[in-house]
Amino acid sequence: MHFIQMGLRSAFDYAERALDRLFGPNANPLGQLGALGYFLFWIVTVSGFYVFAVFDTGVARAFQSVEWMSGPHWWHAGLMRSFHRYASDLMIVVMLLHLVREFALDRFRGARWFSWFTGVPLIAFLYVCGVTGYWLVWDKLAQYVATTSTELLDWMPIFGEPIARNFLDPSSLSDRFFTLLVFLHIAVPIILLFVMWVHIQRISGPKVNPPRLLGGIVLVALTVVSLLMPAVSQGPADLARIPSPVRLDSLYLILYPLADRAPGVAWVALAAIGVVLALVPFLPPRRQPAIAKVFLDHCNGCGRCVADCPYEALQLAPRTDGAVYRSEVVVDASKCVSCGICVGSCPSTTPFRRTGDLVTGIDLPDYSFARMRADVIAACAAPREGRRVLAIVCKHGGGRKLAASPDLAVLELPCVAMAPPSLVDFALSRKLADGVAIVGCSERSCYNRLGVEWTKQRLAQERDPYLRSRVPRERLATIWASATETGAVASAIEELRTNLPPLASDAGPRPGGLSARQPEEMRS
Ligand code: HEM
Ligand code: SF4
Ligand code: SF4
Repeated sequence: MHFIQMGLRSAFDYAERALDRLFGPNANPLGQLGALGYFLFWIVTVSGFYVFAVFDTGVARAFQSVEWMSGPHWWHAGLMRSFHRYASDLMIVVMLLHLVREFALDRFRGARWFSWFTGVPLIAFLYVCGVTGYWLVWDKLAQYVATTSTELLDWMPIFGEPIARNFLDPSSLSDRFFTLLVFLHIAVPIILLFVMWVHIQRISGPKVNPPRLLGGIVLVALTVVSLLMPAVSQGPADLARIPSPVRLDSLYLILYPLADRAPGVAWVALAAIGVVLALVPFLPPRRQPAIAKVFLDHCNGCGRCVADCPYEALQLAPRTDGAVYRSEVVVDASKCVSCGICVGSCPSTTPFRRTGDLVTGIDLPDYSFARMRADVIAACAAPREGRRVLAIVCKHGGGRKLAASPDLAVLELPCVAMAPPSLVDFALSRKLADGVAIVGCSERSCYNRLGVEWTKQRLAQERDPYLRSRVPRERLATIWASATETGAVASAIEELRTNLPPLASDAGPRPGGLSARQPEEMRS
């Protein structure tokens, strides 16, 4: 599975870098797939209301009303019909790309199973929305969809009477059945929206709106395609004839040829896809590193960690230890992924504290801040040959393969935002290193969602805890690179080293080197 993921990640990296040049990193569509899914849902809803206002739900008149839209009223109703069709198609493409990208980035395991698991029914609901939509037009394609879908449903012993009977001849199809279909085409999107809302409940600050530029580009593209290739029907349905041949939509109706020929095999394929997708987050089972632990004696209830946790795993609650503060922080064990971002946000997490036993307000039991500080000191205590760089590396980003050398000390963390900015200050002011490189994931695909963003804001003094002004910025580099861009990271570190001004107390050439990589128990 790892090799498939790395292959897919390389493909996404390649495509994303190319799209960066066209759209810029902020509007890169591949970095905004979830938000685009939401945006397209609203476009489909608005255009759907418009189309519904002029649609006739009677069996006999449905086709004529659709023809009326695409014929004399093409410039408003026809345009909206095409918008509705193409935005729905694009939603499938966006959803499937989003699924594959989250898989490639490995953002679905352990405590993060929830978004993936709730994404699986989203696929089913979106397909039901599309299929019922094609049905409503009541053209030849609709007739094919109706007969194939009902034969597929009849294959399972769900209904007492075979529903395919409704499509045997014109007299057997009633307006009531058609009204039920209209109801389904409206009710299922409401359920879809509800599940979309559930889908993002366990992540903080989910992006549900794309940047304006990207939204504008999507709207313009949909308008152009709708004008150049308006959605058209395939001739009126006629239950007295077998509706063939029909042009199938290869996105929504991809399984229909199989369902038509072998409904049993189609059911097996659907069930297999559903079960495999639902089990993906749990196969193989992954040992969860110990979750964040609160140390009340060092917590003043400021809430910074609550604001920074990307997974809604922290909450403020009334104080229980009788201290003067009003609140304390509480960890939800089922949501914590042990990313350590809360450790980096706590005001008690400072390496300058003189206490022998360095305790923070919130810490990771498997890799405490005290150990991180000791690791930095140990890594940088080794004799150096030239100018030494301390690389603070995210284990999911482009620095994951960096090897320590006499001039490079490496501190590997579950997320670069676990390191508070004071650690950079500490390394430079104590002259442990001549320069510090923070090497995180690519800006578009932070493994821990918000780690890159919070680190950038802390270094720019836009978010607490921020990097003090006294820290010489020319000795600090931030490198954002995805797991496949290891070569670019090595070059960027070399560039930092080459441009470093010498420290007053440069120790001179000495051999040796040490790495402060993460302990084995954190590597999962
Ligand atoms: C209608 C279709 C869908 C929409 C609109 C949608 C939307 C979203 C949004 C807005 C996010 C949050 C992105 C962020 O700000 O980090 C997200 C995350 C995610 N989605 Fe979807 N999604 C859809 C379908 C799916 C499907 C089919 C799957 C997989 C089966 C899936 C898996 C995930 C995962 C794994 C995450 C990341 C959670 C994390 O970072 O822990 N989604 N989705
Ligand atoms: S380690 Fe901290 S920031 Fe990360 S998920 Fe757990 S509580 Fe949230
Ligand atoms: S950031 Fe630290 S002090 Fe503030 S609430 Fe969280 S644990 Fe407590």
